[in-house]
Amino acid sequence: MNSASKAFDGRRRYAVVGVGGRSDFFRSAIETKYAEHCVIVGFCDNNLGRLKLAQAQSKERTGSEPPIYDVSTDPRAFDRMVAETKPDEVIVTSKDCTHHEYIIRAMELGCDVITEKPMTIDAEKCQAIIDTQQRTGRRCRVTFNYRYSPPRTQVKDLLMKGTIGDVLSVDFHWMLNTHHGADYFRRWHSNKANSGGLMVHKATHHFDLVNWWLSDIPVSVVGVGKREFYTPEMARRMGLESYHERCLTCPEGDKCGFKIDISSGQMGKLYLANEEYDGYYRDRCVFRPDIDIEDTMNVVVKYSSGATLCYSLNAFCSWEGYTVAFNGTKGRLEHTMQESVYISGDGTVPGAIEKEGSYIRIYPLRSPAYEVELWTGEGGHGGGDPILLDDIFSPEKKPDPYLRAADHRAGAYSILIGAAANISFATSQPVRISDLVSGLERPDYPPMPSRTDPVPMPIKDR
Ligand SMILES: NC(=O)c1ccc[n+]([C@@H]2O[C@H](COP(=O)([O-])OP(=O)(O)OC[C@H]3O[C@@H](n4cnc5c(N)ncnc54)[C@H](O)[C@@H]3O)[C@@H](O)[C@H]2O)c1
Repeated sequence: MNSASKAFDGRRRYAVVGVGGRSDFFRSAIETKYAEHCVIVGFCDNNLGRLKLAQAQSKERTGSEPPIYDVSTDPRAFDRMVAETKPDEVIVTSKDCTHHEYIIRAMELGCDVITEKPMTIDAEKCQAIIDTQQRTGRRCRVTFNYRYSPPRTQVKDLLMKGTIGDVLSVDFHWMLNTHHGADYFRRWHSNKANSGGLMVHKATHHFDLVNWWLSDIPVSVVGVGKREFYTPEMARRMGLESYHERCLTCPEGDKCGFKIDISSGQMGKLYLANEEYDGYYRDRCVFRPDIDIEDTMNVVVKYSSGATLCYSLNAFCSWEGYTVAFNGTKGRLEHTMQESVYISGDGTVPGAIEKEGSYIRIYPLRSPAYEVELWTGEGGHGGGDPILLDDIFSPEKKPDPYLRAADHRAGAYSILIGAAANISFATSQPVRISDLVSGLERPDYPPMPSRTDPVPMPIKDR
């Protein structure tokens, strides 16, 4: 804790940069459940309208208004916020391509950092974060909420116990449906310069899960990616005359199954009402030709233990969720999870578990398969969100055998798989992770069954 915080009222002081949809996950937690121990001291964004909205929400919840700092009118506004409000930690929930700027500056100014995923979007920015962390010694926590989802923690538990021996290969396939999946093609995410594409923006969660499930780090990546669904051609194949600029003014909206209405509710307040400040449209046409992210991606990753991962991400599927299978020396673990239908910021619980269609099954070598009862949890992102919040903001820290709290090293290894995949998509060549950054240490992961443990001979006749 930096010394200035003590001068206030003993509560841990947080400043928030980027006050869009996701930030309220942290803001509301700090200002309600954890208000006794935590306080928000300032907001920074490049949209004055959203800044005022965040301020008004704080007033409603706590009776006081944290000061706001607008980087669109003052490029030094972030530095001023840190100097004037003296946060212990900066929470980074801005657009992905800006994360590194705020992570680096916050650490240079003596703060610890809590950043949303992806930690950053390419290898160069990742290197800058690694170097700054080493120079300043500050902590950068990456909020990988997916690790905290009870069934995903349960998978880690089963693998750690050696239920299927040591894992030699993983098949992992993530499906985004035409509600949530399509939404990436409307927003700033639809340009790689903003998000790194879905290989970084979305798959950072999935690559982190595999790195952590295996307690291992990636060595090389090769992949193929393309966009074949969210295209002008597909608009025509679906019976539209053409793509258009945005849903709000679309002349063919009544014929289009991808139309969204941002004129009211949370979306209206956050985005439509604040377009005058930055010209950002939240409802751009999903068939625009200027989209440059992929919707269909296949990747193979080699790990330092020799394990291999075969991964796919498709953003136009009929159901949302994933199926993952671990092939181990004593058997196979299959886990499937279906998620509810939602759109980011629509007011529903994001990524809630559909109980029917979610399971973990163990297939021991040459013995009957069995299903294990799923660990359950309520709340966003597979029940991970509330557990993550407790881990971050609760003053009583419980020891965690799964070591779910992630720092910049895990943040880096997850985005570097995506960054390597992006290079491989462009060059058709495999990419070595060690060629992308230097000085990156291995994250803290729990011990796993080793490649040298004895393996029982499978029973002969079955
Ligand atoms: N872990 C999860 O499950 C999860 C879920 C949703 C979003 N996220 C992450 O949260 C972050 C925010 O996503 P969101 O859905 O809230 O997006 P959003 O578009 O609603 O909010 C982004 C905010 O950043 C602001 N911004 C843009 N450029 C800026 C700049 N240069 N300086 C300061 N502020 C700037 C925008 O004005 C906006 O208020 C993203 O990094 C996203 O990946 C994580």
